[in-house]
Amino acid sequence: MTSAFKDDLLAGKTAFVAGGTSGINLGIAKRFAALGAKVAVVGRNPEKAANAAREIGGGALGLSADVREYGAIRGAMEQVAQAFGPLDIVVSGAAGNFLAPANGMSANAFRTVVDIDLNGTFNVFRGCYDLLRRPGASLIAITAGQAVNAIPLQIHACAAKAGINQVIRVLAMEWGPDVRVNGISPGPIANTEGMSRLAPDPATREAHYARIAMGRWGEVDEVAECAVFLSSPSASYISGTILDCDGGSQLGDASRRNLGTGLA
Ligand code: NAP
Ligand code: COA
Repeated sequence: MTSAFKDDLLAGKTAFVAGGTSGINLGIAKRFAALGAKVAVVGRNPEKAANAAREIGGGALGLSADVREYGAIRGAMEQVAQAFGPLDIVVSGAAGNFLAPANGMSANAFRTVVDIDLNGTFNVFRGCYDLLRRPGASLIAITAGQAVNAIPLQIHACAAKAGINQVIRVLAMEWGPDVRVNGISPGPIANTEGMSRLAPDPATREAHYARIAMGRWGEVDEVAECAVFLSSPSASYISGTILDCDGGSQLGDASRRNLGTGLA
């Protein structure tokens, strides 16, 4: 896609992307690196992290840590700050999800998703605070439409992402004016693990497209552009907001646009 941002926009910046070893967050990490940032990505699987770092290039670091373990994620951040200097951009994007009814979900299953998404976001943001370059740092949590829409089979993700939205708002207040804290809420994004779990078959996907105002799923690069914007000087007065990058998904069912008009 064509980007509106200049090639060296993030030169001299350090970016830490939790959950950046695949999918949307890896796309964000790659975009940061392409615009000149020094980038580190973190996931549980060390091999996946090393491969992601190679894919990003430019001396990127790929580290292994579980966001559910505060000491481990804090240790990874210290390692990155030592290698690259103070953190300018921190993305909290690690998540787990699966379709399951509340009655088909154990207490541990619910807790696991809340632990990765919500507690993980607290751990990432709490852990990075004294390693940030202040003033000027930009924190971004990756949330989802589940935060504001009740969705069957998603009680764990709905609860976790709703919590993340409040973490964003509270930290924006507590940590302003030195640190900006925002969220990005992607809609359904093509070729991701998330959508392969939530819409596994072609028929579900086809039905889905018509309901979205933009008539399609989004691309990883489209979410990455939002992360660049929120980390750029152009967003210097934006804090505590959730940027929906969802083609209008959250507005409701756009396939009803011609209902009763006789139009196709
Ligand atoms: P993905 O490819 O599965 O990425 C998840 C990342 O998080 C991986 O790097 C994974 O690596 C890491 N991770 C998972 N559990 C972790 C843990 N406990 N500690 C540390 N790292 C962990 O997912 P995606 O579909 O691109 O989604 C990325 C983000 O976008 C998520 O926050 C998701 O909720 C959000 N989102 C996605 C969509 C979508 O359409 N896909 C829509 C709305 C929001 P390891 O497995 O090696 O740990
Ligand atoms: N339906 C119901 N329960 C499920 C489930 C499903 N599809 N998948 C996992 N669970 C339950 C497990 O049975 C377990 O509960 P139990 O101990 O009572 O049996 C609990 O969830 C934890 O599972 P476990 O596999 O031990 O967790 P983990 O920490 O290894 O992995 C997950 C976390 C389950 C979220 C796993 O899917 C994951 O690693 N996801 C990361 C990638 C991802 O989801 N990407 C999309 C992001 S939107």
